Amino acid sequence: MKLFLDTADIDEIRVVARWGVLDGVTTNPSLFAKVGGRSYDDVLREICTITSGPVSAEVVADDLEGMLAQGRHFATLAPNIVVKVAMSETGLEAISRLAEEGIRTNCTLIFTANQGLLAAKAGASLVSPFVGRLDDINQDGMIVIRELAEIFALYEIDSEIISASIRNPLHVTQSALAGAHIATVPFKVLQQMVHHPLTDKGIEQFKADWAKAQAGLAPKAS
Ligand code: E4P
Repeated sequence: MKLFLDTADIDEIRVVARWGVLDGVTTNPSLFAKVGGRSYDDVLREICTITSGPVSAEVVADDLEGMLAQGRHFATLAPNIVVKVAMSETGLEAISRLAEEGIRTNCTLIFTANQGLLAAKAGASLVSPFVGRLDDINQDGMIVIRELAEIFALYEIDSEIISASIRNPLHVTQSALAGAHIATVPFKVLQQMVHHPLTDKGIEQFKADWAKAQAGLAPKAS
């Protein structure tokens, strides 16, 4: 399963790229609002210099022409831009038109397998079910990932499933087991995935024992 970083924060993206585990990035208006200070175009251009993987840029227009104009504009910023479009009747039309023009899309705000199926049929390269937001309202978000993975495999659908709205490391493991092609993960959750109390304790123990061994090698005072 590929790992995308769910952020517009350049520093976070650089760190994870250095770890060697970054397959792409997803942004959205809320994530961009958190970093601010620069234009969305500038942020996207910089992200695309850090990763050659897909970088999702979200349109905010709610009419077809607006969505198409924003999508076509984002696609000029870098070859690895993927245009993110929210699920709606107009959104499906925009996805279908952009696909005809060879522009890759990521259909976002997916909460049911049927929405995911529609997005794939319209031509979305990526579909993003929001696991955490379903869990938040006491529905099992992972069911949507599992159902879509089964449907896409059954009908040999090429679109990839991004497990989105990830809240914790368990969501990542469960997404991989449920058949998601990608999980888009906040920086904090990726850090949580790195650590385990026994790993951290083990590192300290090795350091302490190494220091003891070095002290034992020192010439004894006569
Ligand atoms: C996905 O592409 C979205 O940016 C994201 O996963 C939404 O997550 P949230 O529910 O934490 O806002």
